[in-house]
This record gives sequence, C-alpha cells and structure tokens, in this order.
Amino acid sequence: MFKFSNAMKPAFALAMVPLLFATHATAADNYSGVGRAATPAEIKAWDIDVRPDFKGLPKGSGSVEQGQVVWEAKCASCHGTFGENNTVFTPLIGGTTKDDIKTGNVANLKRNDYPGRTTIMKVSSLSTLWDYIHRAMPWNAPKTLSDDEVYAVLAYLLNLAEIVPDDFTLSDSNIKDVQKLMPNRNGMVRKHAMWPGKSGLVTATPPDTKNTACMTNCKPAAKVSSTLPDYAQTSHGELAPQFRPFGQTRGQGAAGAAAAKPAHNPDYALAEKSGCLACHGINQKIVGPGFNEVADKYKGQDATGKLVAKVKNGGSGVWGSMPMPPQTDLKDSDAQALVKWILSGAPTQ
Ligand code: HEC
Ligand code: HEC
Repeated sequence: MFKFSNAMKPAFALAMVPLLFATHATAADNYSGVGRAATPAEIKAWDIDVRPDFKGLPKGSGSVEQGQVVWEAKCASCHGTFGENNTVFTPLIGGTTKDDIKTGNVANLKRNDYPGRTTIMKVSSLSTLWDYIHRAMPWNAPKTLSDDEVYAVLAYLLNLAEIVPDDFTLSDSNIKDVQKLMPNRNGMVRKHAMWPGKSGLVTATPPDTKNTACMTNCKPAAKVSSTLPDYAQTSHGELAPQFRPFGQTRGQGAAGAAAAKPAHNPDYALAEKSGCLACHGINQKIVGPGFNEVADKYKGQDATGKLVAKVKNGGSGVWGSMPMPPQTDLKDSDAQALVKWILSGAPTQ
C-alpha cells in the first residue's frame, strides 16, 4: 500500500488546499475572519416588518386629531391636504365609497373609465400602510416618526377616506377591527392576467400561466421560445450601456434591431441563430457558463469531441446543477463549428 513519508505530507497538504477551496469553498469560508455576528439591538432595529396578521406591530395609539397635526407638518407638502395630490406621487385617498367598506371590494377598480387608482382603493391590509409609513415616510426623513405618530397619521388618513369617525383613536388593540373596514380587503386576487385583455381589466382576464411546482419527472430545462419584439427592444435606446455589467439584470444589446448591427463573425451568427446566446454570454455567465470561461477551462486540451457530444446530448454537473438541454435540431457540422469557435475564444468579429 502506498504510504506518505513524513517529508511528503506537508507538500501534499499544501497542494490539496487550493483544490479544496476551488471546489468546496462557500462564501463564508472565503470571508472567514471578516465581520461579526449582529447584536440583538442591531437585529431589532432592522426587524421592523408588520405582517398582515399584525405580527410585529408595536404597541401604541394616536387619534385623528393628533394625526392631522403630523400630516400637515410632515406629509401634506407632498401628498396634499387631503391626500389628493397627484404631482409627487399618485393620490393616497379618493375613489372609495361607503358601499366598498361594506363589501370589501372597491367598485371603481372594476371600471375602465375611472381615472387613476389611489392607494386606499388598492391596498387590502392596513398592516401594509402602517409598515410602509413607519419604514419609508416622510420620504425626505424616513423612520423619524414615533410609533404613536404613525398610529395618529394613519388614523387621519383613514378618516380622510371616511373609514373611521373624526373622534377616532387608532391603537394596537383596535387595529384588527379597522382592518375589517378596509375598502379593498377582499380585492386581492391571484387569478388574473398580467395584462388586461380586450375587457381592459386584468381581473376579467384569466391568468397567463398556471404555475405548479414540478417535483418529479420534470422537463430538463427551459427553452427560450420568444423574445421582446424589435420595437420594444429599442424603445428606450440601446439598453446594454444603461445597465451595470454585473448582477441579475444586465440588459442586452438591441438584439432585435438589425439596423445598427456590426458585421459579425459567421460562427457568432451561427451561435445566435442556434439560440446558444440566450443562455451563454460571450464574456459572462447567463444560464450556462460564459464562452470565455469554457475556452479557459479547456485550454490546451483536446476537448472538441467531448464538447460536441455534450452540446448534442445536453447534461449538467460541470458548471453547476442547471442542465444544458440537448440541442437535437443542431446539425453535427454546426455543433463542430460552434465548439471550435468557442474553444478559440468565441470571437464576435
Ligand atoms: C418629500 C415628499 C414626501 C413626503 C413629505 C411624504 N411623502 Fe409619502 N410618498 C412620497 C413618494 C414619492 C411616495 C412614493 C414612493 C415610492 O413609491 O417609492 C410616497 C408614498 C407614500 C405612501 C404609499 C403609497 C403607495 O400607494 O405606495 C404612503 C401611504 C405615504 N407616502 C404616506 C406618507 C405620510 C403618512 C407622510 C408623512 C408622515 C408622507 N407620506 C410624507 C413622497 C412624500
Ligand atoms: C437553455 C440554456 C442553454 C442553451 C440554449 C445552450 N446552453 Fe450550453 N450550457 C447550458 C448550461 C446550463 C451549461 C452547463 C452544463 C454543465 O454544467 O454541465 C452549458 C454548457 C455548455 C458548454 C460546456 C460544456 C462542458 O461540459 O463544459 C458548451 C460548450 C455549450 N454549453 C455550448 C452550447 C452551444 C454551442 C449552444 C447552442 C447550440 C448551447 N450551449 C445552448 C445552457 C444552455
């Protein structure tokens, strides 16, 4: 049996270290010794969300009258005296009726001819308003209101919307009762389309997709079957330079705009035509590895045959768990050409 001599051990250990890091390192390992655990006080300052069941809501109270003082000093300049201003942001108040308070559905949302959608028309849970005002308003000085001021200013908004009377005091103990008066409390639906159909109303149009999580025998991978039409690709100018070159959303060139396209390398054009560029960037990972990474990985090896087979048959595990779908429609000669082109650094010109 092969045994390490003492002299060999350190050399072996050193050689192993980079390998282990390369294959098994997690983010935490890479940054060990950097940072410290958050203190309970830090977590408390950050953990301020109030949920629809009011979990997380701090104790406190505020009256409509106190709320008017807060509103006029800190909110009315942007949102208008009655929450009606449409310049800094869409109106907060308006468009709801006593009947909506009874039914929990805002009738004006179902009309095509009603101008605009105010906050109170749309919002279904009072916790959202409490949470949002508490964390984000006033816009120019977020998180400066005391809890009681948030209760008060919210009571005032509810009074402007004729949900609570002038002498009302909103508190953590009665907020659940007020929730039962929210005009659009029953108006949140999931079964509707992203875009309105002929009716002009999203709620009247059935959902675009029915998405059920697949747990067994799932289809191997998504196939890009449609892209933005040309006019939409270019309607905001050349998108790619308007995005950061990293992160989830990187933008793309005006792919559909044939006009300003420079002459491309024929293999680049073949890759584009074969749909490879939907998943592979030339210089960056998209769904699959960037072609530059593939070229680097197999530098100095004769990997052509293996990679042609991989492209044709698909597979996963070399670059991560995301599978590459088999490219069944691709001609053998095209697969050969593409792999050679990729291994030569995927030149675009
Ligand atoms: C300097 C201007 C300004 C001030 C002052 C201001 N707001 Fe706002 N408010 C905004 C803007 C802008 C938005 C939209 C922000 C966004 O969507 O990112 C907004 C959004 C809101 C919303 C959410 C509306 C929605 O439908 O998403 C509420 C509620 C709100 N403000 C309440 C208040 C209250 C209460 C105050 C006073 C404590 C206040 N605002 C002060 C500018 C302001
Ligand atoms: C739907 C997305 C998708 C499309 C379309 C796609 N690929 Fe891939 N490709 C992947 C993924 C994901 C991987 C990584 C697979 C892995 O980890 O083994 C990959 C890996 C590769 C590799 C490296 C294989 C390895 O084992 O190192 C090559 C080469 C490659 N693709 C070429 C192509 C070519 C050429 C086309 C067009 C004919 C194409 N791909 C189309 C997703 C895609």
